[in-house]
Amino acid sequence: MGIDLYCVMGNPVAHSRSPWIHARFAELTGQTLRYDRRLIPMEGFATSVRAFAAEGGRGCNITVPFKFDAAVLADCVSERATLAGAVNVLSFQGGAILGDNTDGAGLVIDLQRNAGFDLRGHQVLLIGAGGAAAGVLGPLLHEHPASITVANRTLARASVLVARHAELAAQMEVELVGRSLLDLRGNFDLVINATSASLSEAGIPVAGSTLKRGALAYDMMYGAPAQGFLTWAAEHGASARDGLGMLVGQAAEAFLIWRGVMPPEQQVLDELRAVMQERS
Ligand code: ATR
Repeated sequence: MGIDLYCVMGNPVAHSRSPWIHARFAELTGQTLRYDRRLIPMEGFATSVRAFAAEGGRGCNITVPFKFDAAVLADCVSERATLAGAVNVLSFQGGAILGDNTDGAGLVIDLQRNAGFDLRGHQVLLIGAGGAAAGVLGPLLHEHPASITVANRTLARASVLVARHAELAAQMEVELVGRSLLDLRGNFDLVINATSASLSEAGIPVAGSTLKRGALAYDMMYGAPAQGFLTWAAEHGASARDGLGMLVGQAAEAFLIWRGVMPPEQQVLDELRAVMQERS
């Protein structure tokens, strides 16, 4: 038997920090494995996954734009990935492809463990209703906030996402509502930006009045695209946090699935932040 192989598949994938993160996790937990990055042709996702499994691959992370294809390809999809409608982790076991989604768990780890924000009983605003928002809504509901408002530019998408999670929200006793960005009222303890608005330099999709005094404002992006939101949050008196910890958190949960060991994600997050600062 050769070394255990893993990779991240995407297009583009050159920017991915996953090989660095998983190599560090492996070092710190004494695991022997190899983790590469693979650029997958737009029409070649299923073939590439099967070829990797045939080469002896044990599992892979899936990134843009293949998370939806991965949910379709997997033979068995976890409950949280089914609710998210997307898969970011595949494991190959006995000829079967298993799909899971650790994005939401990564966000919850970063909020609760790293940022020290306890979601229980708080009022949460989730901005956006695309793939990024869908991936985290279920795990956020599981933490028993008082309410979650999903606000989106296109109300219909927010309504669909809310309807899909209505049963879970009722079970968790969380008030879950969908709103248009134009019809957003009230203020919140936690405001999460899950839109891609910053990529088009469209500005901040909500007013500063959505932030309660001392609120936490969280952007799922990191690096330059998160900067506008973080500056805006600080100007309105909120604590601001980017999504780098979510990235490391989702990787840690994937590592746990594959290796059965939880790596020291907070240490690796600190190290990654330092590496990124040196390079900028
Ligand atoms: P992702 O997988 O990153 O979530 P997506 O599925 O294309 O990508 O979703 C992008 C999200 O950002 C959507 O909620 C989108 O709003 P619409 O559903 O109305 O398209 C939101 N978004 C993108 N640009 C925006 C902007 N300029 N202002 C507000 N919301 C924006």
